[in-house]
Amino acid sequence: MIGKKITINDIKQSKIDGKKIVMMTAYDYPFGLMADEAGVDIVLVGDSLGMVVMGLEGTVGVTMDQMIHHIKAVVRGCKTALIVGDMPFMSYNISICEAIKNAGRLMTEGGCDVVKLEGGVDFAPTVNAIVKAGIPVQGHIGLTPQTASALGGFKMQGKDTKAAKRIIEDAKALEDAGVFSIIVEAVPAPLGELIAQAVSIPVIGIGAGSMVDGQVLVTHDMIGLFDKFVPKFVKQYAQIRPTIIEALKTFKEEVATESFPAAEHCFSMPEKTLEELKKIID
Ligand code: KIV
Repeated sequence: MIGKKITINDIKQSKIDGKKIVMMTAYDYPFGLMADEAGVDIVLVGDSLGMVVMGLEGTVGVTMDQMIHHIKAVVRGCKTALIVGDMPFMSYNISICEAIKNAGRLMTEGGCDVVKLEGGVDFAPTVNAIVKAGIPVQGHIGLTPQTASALGGFKMQGKDTKAAKRIIEDAKALEDAGVFSIIVEAVPAPLGELIAQAVSIPVIGIGAGSMVDGQVLVTHDMIGLFDKFVPKFVKQYAQIRPTIIEALKTFKEEVATESFPAAEHCFSMPEKTLEELKKIID
């Protein structure tokens, strides 16, 4: 379903209108198409692809070229939702110059509308430089998967007063640096609410409670396609994996028993052609 393309201004307006923003991840063409058909506002081509598509233990092994490859596929399917391209680990951490260059590559080669990067106060100058180069940026604070090992693992963040205050400061620094919205991951629900109140741009939560401006989930988690582990904040809206395995087992069974392919799956040949063919190959 091709609707009017969603822009960063539409996303910002949603917060003003009190309309919740819906965001999901996608990594390929069919999920790009389905995102539009479901009417979601934002599609994130997340570096979570490292875990749910490539089978890595985390997101740090994902490269710029892999991100561009997957962004291109999603862009071909998704024409309405705003498309966010995730900047992989070390694509923006070394220098501001490289950060701008790599953010530009995600847009020019991949075709996404905006980029996302992880980090708060420390990355505000980088964010500001990318925004000044004309590339809209979405922030990502709280649990930042690329630096999960430095945070002590995939754990809830902002547990004590000092840590919680620091995350609010991260949000304010990103707003001042010019991000159009912020993702907040794995923080206590009351902290999620305080962060959303502290800034005027939309705050989209993943494990940040219900009082933020929108919600994002990793699609493969929410449809039960990736079930190696399911974080506490994930609701599974479907169980796709058993359905797929069942279909594959039935296919195997039908091939073995020769009940597939049936006549309706086969191309026919005129009797006369067949007779002639048999004569000339004899
Ligand atoms: O890469 C990703 O999918 C993300 C989400 C967890 C927000 O960053």
